[in-house]
Amino acid sequence: MGVFAIVPLFQDAAIAAAHELGWFELLAARGRTLDELAATSGIASGHHRVAALARALISIGALVRQGDVLTPGAVPPRPEVVREGWGLLAEVMRSDRPLPLPTDPSAYHHHLVRAGADSARELAPRIAAATVLDLGGGAGAYAAAVLDAQAATTVTLVDLPDILPLARDHLARFAGRVQFVGGDARHAPIGERHGVALLANVLHLHGPTACAELCAAAARAVAPGGRVVILEIDADSPEGVCSHSTWRSTRSEETCIRRPRCAAGSPPLA
Ligand SMILES: C[S@@+](CC[C@H](N)C(=O)[O-])C[C@H]1O[C@@H](n2cnc3c(N)ncnc32)[C@H](O)[C@@H]1O
Repeated sequence: MGVFAIVPLFQDAAIAAAHELGWFELLAARGRTLDELAATSGIASGHHRVAALARALISIGALVRQGDVLTPGAVPPRPEVVREGWGLLAEVMRSDRPLPLPTDPSAYHHHLVRAGADSARELAPRIAAATVLDLGGGAGAYAAAVLDAQAATTVTLVDLPDILPLARDHLARFAGRVQFVGGDARHAPIGERHGVALLANVLHLHGPTACAELCAAAARAVAPGGRVVILEIDADSPEGVCSHSTWRSTRSEETCIRRPRCAAGSPPLA
């Protein structure tokens, strides 16, 4: 089970993409390996997506795996999905190109604020610190929850310059307790005395090198004994949506670089 089995939007998108790619017909004709399925459904590269979609479909019983061979399971009818975002999954898989970013990011970020509110409220009291650095903070879902939960805490939110107006707007009621830094979090001037550096829903956007650089920047930004906290989508986790990780900084970049996969490997947040 994973996020695809739990969140209806993702599940519908996965089923619709498989129908669009013709996977159920191809596999009904004969069982195929992942590579064969990719080749016969017009996916030349980006096979990690083929494996992820197949895992999602297996987890809901739509496909069955025997050894390396996939066959159809209980094939669900094709759901209606809006032809944007996740509704374009089959197209993204065929072209091996991510969707372009929206020119106006506000709708996406307002959605993140709404969708992340419960998770942010749950996390906020567990990362008590006088200063919290919110790297890739977006419109400020997590910053707002931290500032609400901890009256004495100040937050520094870092994001790309285009996103900061959204954060300033959303966090206006906390004026005086929140600072904004525009730029790439890997290189921006973010200080080095924070109690907690948070990376919430940022690392999945990046490959291993950028993830390691972001983790290193977070570790450099906390005072000795401070904590780097990572909250990330984990499509394969039993919980489905998010997993928390945390580690105490030794202020050693080496420690951090060795742990670029911290979201998967660290002990759960105490
Ligand atoms: C999926 S959003 C998450 C926003 C917020 N943390 C939340 O959970 O609601 C990822 C955010 O990280 C920002 N981001 C990604 N890479 C970044 C980088 N290298 N430096 C600064 N911001 C970055 C994006 O601009 C975006 O606002």
